[in-house]
Amino acid sequence: MTSILILNGPNLNLLGSRQPEVYGVTTLAEVESLCRATAGELGVALEFEQSNHEGVLIDLIHGAKGVHDGIVLNAGAYTHSSIALMDAIASVEIPTIELHLSNVHAREPFRHRSYISKVAIGLICGFGPAGYPLAIRAMVEKLEVSP
Ligand code: DQA
Repeated sequence: MTSILILNGPNLNLLGSRQPEVYGVTTLAEVESLCRATAGELGVALEFEQSNHEGVLIDLIHGAKGVHDGIVLNAGAYTHSSIALMDAIASVEIPTIELHLSNVHAREPFRHRSYISKVAIGLICGFGPAGYPLAIRAMVEKLEVSP
């Protein structure tokens, strides 16, 4: 069975209360429910994780090797700074979709640079929580074309 890791980075545990004007009022637990409903509909397995720590995120990416077929990564602010996360994705060679709730390209210039984009197969941003099911669907379609 196809298996997808959904990985969330720093401050995303605060979704729902964190800057609702930017990120909305949906909590991370509700995002997880959305993801599980989509995974159930598509018949794929899903692991959903969040960490505020760069090293933990890297360990989760390493642990995905041989376990998950695809990764959906919202790396939060590490997107714009972490060469280590970029290297981790490149190292495991698991197709990864970069995801953001907000449209990072319509925001501050420092959010326009992404290290994750350099190793991701694609990018979804600006659709709020709806981006997560979109990313799962995109990943499943991509894996069906080139497993
Ligand atoms: C974010 C965008 C990042 O720039 C920011 O640091 C986040 C959330 C998003 O989902 O829109 O923490 O990844």
